[in-house]
Amino acid sequence: MRLETEKKGLGKILKNLLMPYLSEKEELLKILNDDYSKEITIAKMMDEHAEMIPFDFLKEKLKKLAEEERAHAEKLKQKIIELGGTVNPSPKIYDIRASSIHNERGFRKLVADLELDKEIYEDYIAQINRIENEDIKKLLREIVEDEVRHKDVLMDIVMRLC
Ligand SMILES: [Fe+2]
Repeated sequence: MRLETEKKGLGKILKNLLMPYLSEKEELLKILNDDYSKEITIAKMMDEHAEMIPFDFLKEKLKKLAEEERAHAEKLKQKIIELGGTVNPSPKIYDIRASSIHNERGFRKLVADLELDKEIYEDYIAQINRIENEDIKKLLREIVEDEVRHKDVLMDIVMRLC
């Protein structure tokens, strides 16, 4: 009987020790999954919107950005798997978002790309400040460097089309 109580006590101690770790990991997985969904969404938007651009060199520029966004998603996916999580197979919220702007003029669509790109950038900055895991911070910083460049490329495409 006494042994049982001691066992329970030990279980509780272990649980308390592990809980912060588990919840931190879960929080990281949630953040990475959200980021993954957004990267998949913006890649999809950019690819679709590239098709409407009447100049091949600008079309290719946007398609290259989409490719890089997909590479970001892939890096995030690898990290999620490394942490023992799984990726969200259908980022529904962002699907709706992408289709809701589908029927607007091309220029507006590119502005939507810029807006989402900016939102993603700001999310990353907030996450880098909040997260303590150095490994993940490093990954997010690498991605942010690309996002800063993407903003300039997108701006350039928008300016040439308006
Ligand atoms: Fe990205």
